[in-house]
Amino acid sequence: MNKTLPDAMEFLNEFLRSIEKVGNRDIVIAPPFTALERVSERLKGTVVMLSAQDVFYEEKGAYTGEVSPLMLRDVGCRFVIIGHSERRQYFNETDETVNKKIKASLKEGLGVIFCIGESLSERNAGRTFDVLRSQVHGGLKGISEIKDIVIAYEPVWAIGTGVTATEEQAEEAHKYIRSEIKDMYGSVADKLRILYGGSVTPENINALMSCPDVDGALVGGASLKAESFAKIVKGG
Ligand code: PGA
Repeated sequence: MNKTLPDAMEFLNEFLRSIEKVGNRDIVIAPPFTALERVSERLKGTVVMLSAQDVFYEEKGAYTGEVSPLMLRDVGCRFVIIGHSERRQYFNETDETVNKKIKASLKEGLGVIFCIGESLSERNAGRTFDVLRSQVHGGLKGISEIKDIVIAYEPVWAIGTGVTATEEQAEEAHKYIRSEIKDMYGSVADKLRILYGGSVTPENINALMSCPDVDGALVGGASLKAESFAKIVKGG
């Protein structure tokens, strides 16, 4: 819940200027619903792709306040973030609703950024892998293809806290997630992109990206300023 329309447009103009010479990167930005249409217009002809931060799983109807996958496509979204820890924590998002949202979004041709991650108490209890496993299985239940899915591993204790996972912690979790996906879907798991999220900054992006199983980043706080987000995109 950041940025009014004028803020979003100012950010975007500066960000697009700063990344002009960046090649070989897939860049997605996910503004709030209210800014999607204007941002979408501004992104035409650029390399930057648009994502929403959430979606509802029904196609249409009397669901006051909700937004459907078709509506997101309508305003130019290529992606949607599903299962972010804040949705799980504050808005009763469960593996079951995540699963329904993923299915509905894939059906509409959206790419899905599927977020998972353990809390601090789960990590301290040695349950990290169990939690990741059940989130992966719950979220992907009944889904036969993962080519349009990106997984974001976001340890809840690292989101917005300034405490980043170490390279070892990130790599260990990503490797585990990839092996789990391999068990479920076979060798396409090698092509799956697994993003790390949680207090990513221009200072730590290079170390995180050096981990073999870290394929990208999902950036929150440090993406709110065009300069720091552009630095992260460029690599530190
Ligand atoms: P952060 O947020 O980069 O501020 O930790 C990550 C997120 O919200 O997914």
